[in-house]
Amino acid sequence: MFKVKPVAPDRLPALLRRMPKAELHIHIEGSLEPELMFALAKRNGLSLPYRDVEALRSAYVFDDLQSFLDIYHAGTLVLRTEQDFYDMTYAYLARAAADNVLHAEIFFDTQTHTGHGVGADVVITGLHRACVDARAALGISASLILCFLRHLSEQEAFECLEQVLPQRDLLVGVGLASSERGQPPEKFARVFGRARALGLRLVAHAGEEGPPAYIWSALDVLKVERIDHGVQAVNDAALMARLVHDRIPLTVCPLSNLKLRVFPMLANHNLGQLLEAGIVATVNSDDPAYFGGYVNQNFTETFAALGLTAQHAWQLARNSFEASFIDEARKRQYLDRLDACFETFV
Ligand code: ADE
Ligand code: ZN
Repeated sequence: MFKVKPVAPDRLPALLRRMPKAELHIHIEGSLEPELMFALAKRNGLSLPYRDVEALRSAYVFDDLQSFLDIYHAGTLVLRTEQDFYDMTYAYLARAAADNVLHAEIFFDTQTHTGHGVGADVVITGLHRACVDARAALGISASLILCFLRHLSEQEAFECLEQVLPQRDLLVGVGLASSERGQPPEKFARVFGRARALGLRLVAHAGEEGPPAYIWSALDVLKVERIDHGVQAVNDAALMARLVHDRIPLTVCPLSNLKLRVFPMLANHNLGQLLEAGIVATVNSDDPAYFGGYVNQNFTETFAALGLTAQHAWQLARNSFEASFIDEARKRQYLDRLDACFETFV
């Protein structure tokens, strides 16, 4: 293990910002900032039920995941054209690149948008074009993960998967998102089996609000390679041992957990406990436009609240590359850049 030089607490935020990292848990619709939401509404001749950007932002107070999903869903109504999806995605990638994100794995769903009469191909083409342009202009790489909505049926997830098959090569994997309580992963066993047969990588939200049993079934029934959130795993010692032994990454989203009241305060977050247990934990923003910050804000606020160190910072950044779906050669390059950053940081 790389032994990191001690860094004075007042220099830690600068190190957290500067270090290269990957972001593996970001819903692109959750990166839609109020300013862009108003601009897209205007472009599409739609009106929003808020007077202005400030009124909209002040509505972002949530009791739990479902109360957030209701507002989030309303925000997606302004996304109508391929250019809308392009603009949203490019804005996120520019913001992430400014946070020294070298690689992003972006969640999106098509079911929300097809439900509004927008074709799945319109969504994917817009997202993909932004990823190509951002790579060329900003150097950030990105890949796309299609999330099925778990409050809908498995049959609807199958239909969603069939619809995107013409663009299968533009996707790296599939995931499972939306309301967790009462929607166990095993409901989607067959559609995940089909995705696996298509060569898609598999991830799922589990153990955000739901019980450790949902993490077990995501692993054993869906056969996912990463767990999104997974913070409830600490309540099950056998599960913790499994995650450590199999090096199953958790994509943890601290500010999301705070805003959705998974933890009462950031000081109560279990990120430090996960790292000390040897879990391959990563830090991510989830829905940054709604939860008060992009990935660096998640790092700096959580490190301040939990008293984490430069060694933890290196471990989290390293984990983010290890847990990503990029090829081994590129992983090596990014890990070398990470070590160089820590060696030269003063
Ligand atoms: N969709 C967007 N954000 C989500 C979250 N935190 N959990 C589940 N589904 C989501
Ligand atoms: Zn999420």
